[in-house]
Amino acid sequence: MPEKIRWGLVGLGKISDTFARDLALVPDAELTAVGSRNLDKARAFQNEHSSRYSFGSYEELFQCPEVDVVYIGTPHTFHAELAIQAMQHGKHVLCEKPMGVTGDQTTRMINVAREQQVFLMEALWSRFIPAIATAYDLIQSGTIGSIRYQHADFAFYALDREEEGRLLNPALAGGSLLDIGIYPIFLSYLLLGVPEGIQCISQFHKTGAEIQTAMVFEYTEAQALLFSGLTCNSEMKAEIAGTKGSIHLHPRWHESPGYTLELNGEIETVTVPKQGKGYVHEIQHVHHCLRNGKTQSPLWSHQDSQELVNLMDKVRLESGIRFPFE
Ligand SMILES: NC(=O)c1ccc[n+]([C@@H]2O[C@H](COP(=O)([O-])OP(=O)(O)OC[C@H]3O[C@@H](n4cnc5c(N)ncnc54)[C@H](OP(=O)(O)O)[C@@H]3O)[C@@H](O)[C@H]2O)c1
Repeated sequence: MPEKIRWGLVGLGKISDTFARDLALVPDAELTAVGSRNLDKARAFQNEHSSRYSFGSYEELFQCPEVDVVYIGTPHTFHAELAIQAMQHGKHVLCEKPMGVTGDQTTRMINVAREQQVFLMEALWSRFIPAIATAYDLIQSGTIGSIRYQHADFAFYALDREEEGRLLNPALAGGSLLDIGIYPIFLSYLLLGVPEGIQCISQFHKTGAEIQTAMVFEYTEAQALLFSGLTCNSEMKAEIAGTKGSIHLHPRWHESPGYTLELNGEIETVTVPKQGKGYVHEIQHVHHCLRNGKTQSPLWSHQDSQELVNLMDKVRLESGIRFPFE
């Protein structure tokens, strides 16, 4: 690996803009290239974020020999195809969530990473947010006993967005579940694993996109109540209650600035600052993996991404969410 790890960003929308700002905070990262379907847009992004190269196609960026790792920031439906193309050009990949839209897409991506011997990780940034990582360690060490109940929600009002846009357009795998429902499902999976049963109900927009989903994940000795929606602003707190105590992740819990620990009636509130918008931590983790020759993350592995999307597939089957391309 070179002294600075050289990043290429494709799909220059909202998240790529935020990601590029956090990339600039990582001393051993370099924004080497940006790729858009539109060259003028790529040049404007290049000027804004001081990238070395700009390209008017994603393919040109994949061919750039100076790019070590590609970040994919397109709508969900293009993740699999673009990640596979990038890996077939020998690039390491950090792919926005969800890694693939379906379990099958995700399996294909993982297989290509294995064949090409390149690093592939889903940009599940919450796994690397310091407050969540700290709470996870506390829970793993048994501080709150065994978890019996968990609640997590993620909802914001988006019904005023364009019907053709990625949130409300079923052709772009729109809806709340894959965009933000993935976070409550992630937390339940991280702390409790794969549930034995799932019950869920969804509501739908006139475009056919799912707009809110309530889920119960059933475990042998625990239940998780999860919610995602594009219909309202929810509190966005997460509560993890165990046999000895409980932890509340402060809002917005998926990028939590801290947590409250309740043990034997004593309450401790802890602030755990994050760097930048919070993407710095996943970027640093990718660097750590690349510098140690890893092809997957020990903290958010291929199996984790596969099991997460398998859970979303199950929720979709149960609640009748289908995309037109399926
Ligand atoms: N980790 C997080 O916190 C977080 C936050 C928001 C979103 N995300 C994820 O990031 C991805 C992108 O979200 P976003 O909010 O950044 O979306 P966005 O603002 O709509 O940008 C997506 C970009 O993808 C490219 N694109 C390629 N084909 C497209 C098509 N047919 N229609 C529209 N855009 C197309 C466009 O870039 P060019 O025009 O430059 O080619 C577009 O600007 C999603 O998968 C989402 O789940 C993650």
